[in-house]
Amino acid sequence: KPVGVITGGDSPEREISLKTGAAFEQALRARGYEVTVYDLATDVARLVGDKPAAVIIGSHGGLGENGSLQGLLECVGIPYTGSGVLASALAMDKARAREAVADVGVPVARGLALRMGDIGKSDAREIVSRIENAGLQLPIVVKLNDAGSSFGVAICNTSEELQAAVSDLRTHLSDDPASALLVEDYIEGPEYTVGFFGEVCLGAIEITAAKTFYDYEAKYQSQQTRYDALEAGPLHARLEELGRLAYHALGCRGVARVDFKGDVTTSQGRFLEVNTIPGMTATSLVPKMAAAQGVSFEALVELMLS
Ligand code: DAL
Ligand code: MG
Repeated sequence: KPVGVITGGDSPEREISLKTGAAFEQALRARGYEVTVYDLATDVARLVGDKPAAVIIGSHGGLGENGSLQGLLECVGIPYTGSGVLASALAMDKARAREAVADVGVPVARGLALRMGDIGKSDAREIVSRIENAGLQLPIVVKLNDAGSSFGVAICNTSEELQAAVSDLRTHLSDDPASALLVEDYIEGPEYTVGFFGEVCLGAIEITAAKTFYDYEAKYQSQQTRYDALEAGPLHARLEELGRLAYHALGCRGVARVDFKGDVTTSQGRFLEVNTIPGMTATSLVPKMAAAQGVSFEALVELMLS
């Protein structure tokens, strides 16, 4: 059973992608597959030349997750795991994803997308007035609209911090007019995440970061971050309901994980984003959910390819 694993790439999440890819490779070899690994940073021509019978995608962020890789695979006729071109592109654009899920009744924070095509020539002070005029109130979160793993997220408590975050983060934007910063009201409370594999809900987890929020360090380095699998009950049910609405609003396929902040059984909880290539190292969130349901990592990976 020959299969390709796509890993790496050159997004800021490259290191996580290498871990996801290695976990896929190990699981598939253990199940008797013949595996070829392709690093999206160096092996695209070889991937197209080999034209494997199927590939499993483990490349987080950038071209590996935003629909570009998915479009390439469509063009050359290689079957792949997970969401297609449109769902991938929508999920990677947090502002568009917010609009799509808000349309079907999923609560989103008050927010504003600042696109390069619009703010290109404005200075940080002008941008801050625009944010204030849109009715957002401190604390305010500024993030790169299309980044993952909390790369480029700033929580601002004062106007000065907001201006500094805008000046800093805009330097990461490309000159693509669609490149954007997303600003949103800060939502109090733990983070929640709910996983899906098609119609099947894999489970929901409450995440409590020891420090300010579930940032890169809390995700991948901290031993202090608490992960509590939610039992069946009103909170689990609401997360599942809203997560499923979001999954379908974007047109997702295969495994995807929907993130929320705050308690969604009250008026406080809000949608954050959909991850179409969620982290899949043996200790990542989706494998934790599957394990809590008695599904091993190897079995999950094999199911993704089926
Ligand atoms: N973007 C990271 C890998 C995640 O959502 O799990
Ligand atoms: Mg997230």
